[in-house]
Amino acid sequence: MPKPKVFVTRLIPAEGLAMIRDAAEMEVWQEELPPPYETLLQKIRDADGLVSLLTDKIDPNLMDSNPRLKVVSQMAVGYDNIDIPAATARGIPIGNTPGVLTDTTADFAFALMMSAARRIPEGIDYVRAGKWKTWGPMLLTGPDLHGATLGIVGFGRIGQGMAKRAKGFDMRVLYYDVYRREDLEKEWGVQYVDMDALLRESDFVSLHVDLNATTRHMMNAAAFAKMKRISILINAARGPMVDPAALYDALKSGTIAAAALDVTEPEPIPSNSPLLTLPNCIIVPHIASASVATRAKMATMAAANVIAGLRGEKLPTCVNAEVYEKGVRK
Ligand code: DGY
Repeated sequence: MPKPKVFVTRLIPAEGLAMIRDAAEMEVWQEELPPPYETLLQKIRDADGLVSLLTDKIDPNLMDSNPRLKVVSQMAVGYDNIDIPAATARGIPIGNTPGVLTDTTADFAFALMMSAARRIPEGIDYVRAGKWKTWGPMLLTGPDLHGATLGIVGFGRIGQGMAKRAKGFDMRVLYYDVYRREDLEKEWGVQYVDMDALLRESDFVSLHVDLNATTRHMMNAAAFAKMKRISILINAARGPMVDPAALYDALKSGTIAAAALDVTEPEPIPSNSPLLTLPNCIIVPHIASASVATRAKMATMAAANVIAGLRGEKLPTCVNAEVYEKGVRK
């Protein structure tokens, strides 16, 4: 029996590739940049399974281009690049990689918060530019984390990870989520508030929600106007939750003090984006989950999902489990 065919849209950690190679005939896109849409369409025509990344647009057209495509396995926890209802309607299970990147991402979001508060990137630039002449009593001062109020928007796994870390730093933690988690409030010493109160009372606001129609541009001019002038925004979730033009205005005018972003709208951020001119805006290239160990775990999880899909088994971590009630593609 010929092996099923899998297309992997980028070079992923070897642990995952080895698993797929054992189970399927595998083609891996070797370029640094993702395959252009037309190329992906062409590759899909010959594939039984796809391992995708958040940089690949997986739409109905692509799903219809090959009725043999049985499974899409995304190497990420987020999947806003995939049309999930369309996949379900077509009987295609979609896999993702939840859980394994929670702590790594929370570590990084916390690091962004500390870097922005204590102005570490500005300090590095200052030294590199040869400006360090003496110890300065007012040089690059910023707010403390300990004793400050952190507002967590979205209290899923990564939001909870932020709360856990903040507790160790003696921060007061507020959270807002569409689902209140009273069961966790005592354990993590966190307080549930509505979004307005969170914006008004927090010294740091950290975003940990999914990107959807409600959260797109949730951080807009109106939201920034509610925040404290000393407050700092952290985004290690999805870029389009923040309106970049409104963020620029808020940072430039002093409506808020600083921002630290792992994600932007669009990605990559254009090199002429005005946000890149602001010393109070830290931007890094979507690397919150980028620890060696976590990326290896994400790759093996993505491999396990695609292999299960090819075998007609339930995916270990499936985004659209309802697809099994409707019936999956054979
Ligand atoms: C995800 O998994 O959704 C992150 O954004 C990348 O690891």
